[in-house]
Amino acid sequence: MELLTGTGLWPVAIFTVIFILLVDLMHRRQRWSSRYPPGPMPWPVLDNLLQVDLDNLPYSLYKMAWKPVVVINGLEAMQEVLVTHGEDTADHPPVPIFEYLHVKPRCQGVVLASYGPEWRQQRRFSVSTLHNFGLGKKSQEEWVTKEAGHFCDAFTAHAGWSINTDTMLDKAVCNVIASVIFARRFEYEDPYLIRMLKVLEETRTEFSGFIPEVLNMFPILLRIPGLADKVFQGQKSFMAILDNLLTENRMTWDPSQPPRNLTDAFLAEIEKAKGNPESSFNDENLCVMVGDLFIAGVRPEENTGVHPAPHPSEGRVQQEMDEVMGQVQYPEMADQARMPYTNAVIHEVQRFAHIAPFNLPRITSGDTEVQNFLIPKGTNFIPNQLSMLKDETVWEKPLCFHPEHFLDAQGLFVKHEAFMPFSAGRRACLGEPLARMELFLFFTCLLQRFSFSLPNGQPRPSDHGIFAVLLAPSPYQICAVRRDQGH
Ligand code: HEM
Repeated sequence: MELLTGTGLWPVAIFTVIFILLVDLMHRRQRWSSRYPPGPMPWPVLDNLLQVDLDNLPYSLYKMAWKPVVVINGLEAMQEVLVTHGEDTADHPPVPIFEYLHVKPRCQGVVLASYGPEWRQQRRFSVSTLHNFGLGKKSQEEWVTKEAGHFCDAFTAHAGWSINTDTMLDKAVCNVIASVIFARRFEYEDPYLIRMLKVLEETRTEFSGFIPEVLNMFPILLRIPGLADKVFQGQKSFMAILDNLLTENRMTWDPSQPPRNLTDAFLAEIEKAKGNPESSFNDENLCVMVGDLFIAGVRPEENTGVHPAPHPSEGRVQQEMDEVMGQVQYPEMADQARMPYTNAVIHEVQRFAHIAPFNLPRITSGDTEVQNFLIPKGTNFIPNQLSMLKDETVWEKPLCFHPEHFLDAQGLFVKHEAFMPFSAGRRACLGEPLARMELFLFFTCLLQRFSFSLPNGQPRPSDHGIFAVLLAPSPYQICAVRRDQGH
């Protein structure tokens, strides 16, 4: 009784506070070194949480709860960390919700796989398979061009009306990935495709936000029966849809024939790996890999928004296209070299949209020296892409949309080292060639046929996106007018 009242309570309270402060101090011991990178003053227990701007997460360097996080800023530091020290910086920190969902030994896919032999095996497989299908009879360029044609047809059906382009773009980029993985496409009205995109959309917010953060901080909650299934309903439904598609593919697979798609190539690897318990080629990992490629391949494209918002650069792009290919012939990748202005606009869209502002969080697997600072082994870090894409020492007008950033005085296209939207080093985007092709062919195909304007009374698209691991554009309406008909 004495403990709960009066004088007996004070010693317990003081002891508890001292205990918490000591544990907190132990958590920060890494930061005591004089060579630890500098940062904002943390509070006991709360750390830097009070400095986080919840209304503008991407611009506020985030998630600094209990573990120290080093933020890598600027081109030189970024190259040093991701490329020079690539071997010690290629891992992702363990994330309890992902471990719960699927990331288990020999079944980690590629995007979230730990940096090691399994990741290497799956990365090598995906890179070479994507490359091989690009060189096959029905090359990737043909698939993407065909899909761009369907995308334009969908616009034609809505010409002159106010359109929310997001759903059409989702369908088009989803079909490009489906062509690589299953060698098939879905009609835009197909309920299966509509359902798949609906659940994919649901997964968007399942991995970031308050509830996933709480589950990551207190993974024991994942053991509450039914809770995690409810939180990750979209993810579970999405994997079930992929499983059905994989089953259909398996039923028509003929091992004696050359692979028709990435799934066939994976099934052949599973056959070869039979009896090898160390191999990551197995049925469960096939589903995880395919899920990884869908999510990593569809989301960034739809977020980049290859459909153009109305902008004065539109007329100049169309003039360049008319000179190079006219208004009838379909654009080809080979045209890109002769279209410096169009190329500059597409690069500027990527720079300005900065859809992966922090890449994915990483962890050091060895002590890492960067710019004379020491990042100890086991430190979480965030490669801050924004620090390069909006760097005022690199870009003339970093906060404006300004295609001239990628042109020299003669109007020729110029590259910038600070432009690395696909990241760099060992975990750089493996879909970059396909992504570049989609950006160019979709963008040119649309602008060759349509001009864009804002529907009456609609506001200009916002420059601020919606952040959920990636940055998505805020929804907006647009009006497409056929160039040959002027309506
Ligand atoms: C505009 C389009 C795209 C952008 C801006 C983009 C950006 C990125 C970035 C920044 C990363 C690195 C994340 C990190 O540092 O950990 C990444 C990784 C990845 N991307 Fe992309 N991506 C795009 C399109 C694609 C496409 C079309 C595919 C699929 C074919 C794809 C597949 C992947 C995969 C599998 C990884 C993980 C690589 C690994 O961990 O080894 N991406 N992407």
